[in-house]
Amino acid sequence: EKGGYDHFMLKEIHEQPKAYRDTMRGRISEDGRSVVLPELKVTPEHLRGINRVHIVACGTAMHAGMVGKTVIESLARLPVETDVASEYRYRSPIITPETLVIVVSQSGETADTLAALREAKRCGARVLAITNVVGSSVAREADDVIITLAGPEIAVASTKAYTSQLIAFYLFGLYLAQTRGTKSEADIAHVLAAMDSLPEQVEKILAQAETVKGIAEAISKHSNLFFIGRGIDYAVALEGSLKLKEISYIHSEAYAAGELKHGTLALIEEGVPVIALLTQEDLYEKTLSNIKEVKARGADVLGIVNEGHEAEVAKSVDTHFAIPRTLPLLTPALSVVPLQLLSYYASLALGHDVDKPRNLAKSVTVE
Ligand code: F6R
Repeated sequence: EKGGYDHFMLKEIHEQPKAYRDTMRGRISEDGRSVVLPELKVTPEHLRGINRVHIVACGTAMHAGMVGKTVIESLARLPVETDVASEYRYRSPIITPETLVIVVSQSGETADTLAALREAKRCGARVLAITNVVGSSVAREADDVIITLAGPEIAVASTKAYTSQLIAFYLFGLYLAQTRGTKSEADIAHVLAAMDSLPEQVEKILAQAETVKGIAEAISKHSNLFFIGRGIDYAVALEGSLKLKEISYIHSEAYAAGELKHGTLALIEEGVPVIALLTQEDLYEKTLSNIKEVKARGADVLGIVNEGHEAEVAKSVDTHFAIPRTLPLLTPALSVVPLQLLSYYASLALGHDVDKPRNLAKSVTVE
């Protein structure tokens, strides 16, 4: 049942190239120049009339939503707010019929997410669900559904569901852009071509699992570490940190790199591991200067960098791991993979039950 892998989590990490292909299949026109989402009932007129988007989810699905925010804002130029579902309805959010509410849920059964969906509908908004389970409560109650085709996810720690949610956001963001006319056909074709390469690029990363294993074993000896990044890298840092806490029980925090000096820097001392994501070239110099700040306090820095930048980064970090080149918006679909492997191997090194971490359930059906 684990297909030759020791754990479901490792199997599911390795299934990601297939999950990406399956989630994209049939949703890109034959000529590769536009997105087709025949499953959507919402009309183009409705999508042209919306003036804001709310993305609501829990945990890892929320982290996918944070990437989704950047994707939709940059492709479709619509303001997007993200909320964790357990907070959303208690802050009297401003939901109007011109709001599109996107709920994200692997299981489609998370109680808080379902309650947020109901609240959004009650306020007259249309709800689009991104979910992995056909026929789930979220899928049944939403107005529109984009199914992620990750296949069943058994491990409690979400991996292929998260990355498939990213693919769904890229597709929907492009669909919104083509419908609202915020991107040219050529721009859309350019992103779709880059998406087409993602599965192979993930395979390249997976082929380096042994390298990550070595790094993970060193990290597993620490009780406290940090993930830092800017922009979309910060969203991935949050996901990397959650994954590590969840299955290795090592405490970690994700920080927007520029926020470090507003408090957290006090916790950086000799030998503390810091995992820095450096995939956004326009923010590169800024993040490098944050790396210098932690290095000066003795941190041991692992940089996640784009291929071709290793030489430059090697001078500023202690260790680095390179991911294949893609468009800045698409990097989360690659950069999260070494972080998933890192958590897996750290948990393994510590002898924990990787697939069934303590205190956690796969599907949280209570509020
Ligand atoms: C983390 C994890 C959880 C879930 C969260 C939402 O690895 O799996 O944080 O992402 O409980 O679950 P779904 O997506 O089923 O609504």
